[in-house]
Amino acid sequence: MELIMEKVQKRYGKRHLFDIENLRLPSGGLYGLMGPNGAGKTTLLKMVAGLGRPDHGGFLYDGIPWHKGLFKDITYLSQKAYMMNATVKENIAWPLEVRGIGTKEREIRIQQALERMEIPELADRKATTLSGGEAQKVAFARALVFKPKLLLMDEPAASLDKQANALFESRMLQYHEETNATVIFITHSAEQAQRCCKELLWLEDGKIEAAPPHVPLQIMR
Ligand SMILES: Nc1ncnc2c1ncn2[C@@H]1O[C@H](COP(=O)(O)OP(=O)(O)OP(=O)(O)O)[C@@H](O)[C@H]1O
Ligand SMILES: [Mg+2]
Repeated sequence: MELIMEKVQKRYGKRHLFDIENLRLPSGGLYGLMGPNGAGKTTLLKMVAGLGRPDHGGFLYDGIPWHKGLFKDITYLSQKAYMMNATVKENIAWPLEVRGIGTKEREIRIQQALERMEIPELADRKATTLSGGEAQKVAFARALVFKPKLLLMDEPAASLDKQANALFESRMLQYHEETNATVIFITHSAEQAQRCCKELLWLEDGKIEAAPPHVPLQIMR
């Protein structure tokens, strides 16, 4: 899905959080979104997901402004993985249920999602009792299970150990290759951005710049 940001402005009180002139992210891109704490990365990504509106301007999704039907194609993974008060399996089933996918197909996809994230043993655990890293793995599995065209993730690897982080990166790249979905993920790791994406989005002082991830960040400031 192609994403265009057009004159997107957001302020809290007198403070201008950002003022993005025009940015086009072609369909099938894989982008790391970086910038200092408090720069507005979470606020921006949530707005792209339709959670909150800018004060001015907006977004075009394959050329069309926000409409309710987009929920079907977009997923947003929050900074702190949110788990429904149900089992892990039921959590992963939920996005499939709301999209009317039948029981048989659902079972196949849930099993595949659990296996891909190497968490089949968590299937029947109560999701609210999981550790931070376990919950992040489940949230990632739940985000991919319905094959979104636009995958938005806020620090998806923040609670993952080294091994889980490597698994996460390889699954993200695999998903991107298999589906050609547009993926944007927030990270504080320049190494992660270099490993995973061709283009980096740097948000600071209200402006966003795109650059190859191997460009030293100080050049962009
Ligand atoms: N509802 C709100 N009211 C007032 N200020 C807010 C509100 N939500 C966020 N902010 C402020 O906007 C700024 C940007 O917040 P945001 O969470 O988007 O930053 P971030 O780039 O994701 O930071 P981090 O790297 O720490 O996650 C922060 O200074 C935050 O305090
Ligand atoms: Mg944030």
